[in-house]
Amino acid sequence: MTNSYKLLVVDDDAAMGKFLKEFLAGHDYQVAVAKNGKDALKLIKKTAFDLVLTDVRVEGTTGLEILKASKEKDSETVVIMISAYSTTEVAVDAMNEGAYDFVPKPFNDQELAQTISRALALKSQSSAKDPDSQEEDYQHFHHIIGKSPEMMAIYKQIEQVAPTKTNVLITGESGTGKELIARAIHDFSKRKDKPFVVVNCGGIPDTLMESEFFGHVKGAFTGAVSDKKGFFEVANNGTIFLDEIGELSTMLQVKLLRAVQGTSFTPVGGTREIAVDVRIISATNKDLEQEVVDGNFREDLFFRLNVVPIKVPPLRNRKGDVEILSQYFAKKYAGLMGKEITKLSSYAIDFLNKYSFPGNVRELENLIERSVAMSSTNIILPQSLTISMHKKRRWVEGIPGKRFDLDQVKQGVDLEDMLSTIESAYLKKAMEISGDNKSKAAKLLGLTLRSMRYRLSKQKEFEEKQA
Ligand SMILES: Nc1ncnc2c1ncn2[C@@H]1O[C@H](COP(=O)(O)OP(=O)(O)OP(=O)(O)O)[C@@H](O)[C@H]1O
Ligand SMILES: [Mg+2]
Repeated sequence: MTNSYKLLVVDDDAAMGKFLKEFLAGHDYQVAVAKNGKDALKLIKKTAFDLVLTDVRVEGTTGLEILKASKEKDSETVVIMISAYSTTEVAVDAMNEGAYDFVPKPFNDQELAQTISRALALKSQSSAKDPDSQEEDYQHFHHIIGKSPEMMAIYKQIEQVAPTKTNVLITGESGTGKELIARAIHDFSKRKDKPFVVVNCGGIPDTLMESEFFGHVKGAFTGAVSDKKGFFEVANNGTIFLDEIGELSTMLQVKLLRAVQGTSFTPVGGTREIAVDVRIISATNKDLEQEVVDGNFREDLFFRLNVVPIKVPPLRNRKGDVEILSQYFAKKYAGLMGKEITKLSSYAIDFLNKYSFPGNVRELENLIERSVAMSSTNIILPQSLTISMHKKRRWVEGIPGKRFDLDQVKQGVDLEDMLSTIESAYLKKAMEISGDNKSKAAKLLGLTLRSMRYRLSKQKEFEEKQA
């Protein structure tokens, strides 16, 4: 079976031209080869190719001229450039002139075949589609972007649960979009014009928790100079979002249970019961069921909060979403920064699909934001992504104020001390950035508040030992 796609390969290296012709013919394309600029331009004049694969450097002309001629003949022709030199200038011009992608040499032939078939698939899609409808073709639900079956299932859950008063527990790794989902539930409920109160259960000192949640009356304790409403009263008729519910102390779990069961509570120091109508959405990145088994979380409270569970899978398990999220963020940040970036190169997307995103959507968003800031082309190429990812790995080479090399191992090193030194530097930096807020610092380092506290205390011991 021969498919009807007509391809032109332009390469002045005869062996490479021959290899590409055979390889692509093996994928059922009709392949013509031009070994210099003159031949190529002649062929392009005669035939409207579906796809032109050209080296950036071509004897007698340039890849850029080939690109322009191909687009002039048929603006729908897909042009892919190959180059051993990843000079950005060529890429800038090529992308701005409408090249589909920029393939670095040496290339992996299977990857090249994939790029070609994807480009051709997109071409047939876009010629079949009404041009106006191309604009917003990423799938989304409210402010949540994603079209993977996993996210579709979550959209359905949101739609089903939003109109009810049922309590919802959202679980998932950090950065998966739990808060976004909580807001969507509120925004699709009858309570949407009433308050949505976010409570970070890990960020409030235990001693203040009760009064923060339930309010206090004047004179209840030193400093209580006037009556103060708690979160529950503020959220009346609306939704309260209890983030990091797994961090709630045992004492507060008891109080919260009472409020959830009776929907009324007494402010600290007060005598009068206050009745409220509040919908509770909680979220955690912990395995709360395991916390119940381990005796850290009350089972009765767990059942009250977990009437409808929504489990958000990590980004690495919903691969189709990486691409649309990336395109969405690229557009968003390009707009904010006044840049004309329209998309990510398909190689950049392949690159992202291979990454595991331990920080999930938050990490992807930050990565794209940095890449947009650094990009000098109107398309994001793998290079700018690589730079950002390398930055993350920099800790392997050195830490602020201290360099170390692996050759040291020959002389013997104290690994424990070394790790503690690194940890100390990171903890200090995180505390500094977050203005000594342990909860914020813990977030920056991907730790739970409990683990942060533990590490800080260990660190103090370590430093005292060093002193
Ligand atoms: N599906 C999505 N579409 C668009 N943006 C998303 C999506 N998921 C997450 N984000 C963005 O990623 C960031 C993190 O999302 P969010 O705060 O909801 O995550 P989280 O699960 O609550 O994380 P954490 O456990 O660390 O609090 C936010 O800026 C959010 O807007
Ligand atoms: Mg959150």
